[in-house]
Amino acid sequence: MKRASLLMLAFVLFGPAANAQEQGDPAAGRAFAEEVCALCHAVGPGDIHSPKLDATSFETVANTPGMSVIALSVWLQTPHPTMPNLLLKTEDLHNVIAYITSLKDR
Ligand code: HEC
Repeated sequence: MKRASLLMLAFVLFGPAANAQEQGDPAAGRAFAEEVCALCHAVGPGDIHSPKLDATSFETVANTPGMSVIALSVWLQTPHPTMPNLLLKTEDLHNVIAYITSLKDR
């Protein structure tokens, strides 16, 4: 039930009650991902072959159990040796997360 409660929390924080800025814009997120993340990740729907082979495709990320809005925010705001230190503006962060989660179950 851990995942369910995380999802609930995500819903409370980022759901319809949140203002538009916090919710993120999937279309803007996709444009951003194609510009910045596509260097390594497969970012498009149905796109599973990442240019950098060990970078998970965004569709796979979206369908990974437990990969909630919260988990994505944490991942994207902590440094990782395999990813250049991406400094995402809050707006870009919300948009790209909105885009990734929109790929779920397609
Ligand atoms: C220089 C190449 C590179 C760029 C650019 C890059 N990534 Fe990554 N990313 C990776 C690699 C390699 C991994 C797998 C690393 C690992 O698991 O430690 C990864 C992992 C991830 C994961 C976790 C996937 C999982 O299955 O745990 C997420 C989420 C992610 N990237 C999002 C992004 C986003 C969003 C962007 C653009 C803002 C981005 N990445 C840009 C190389 C990159």
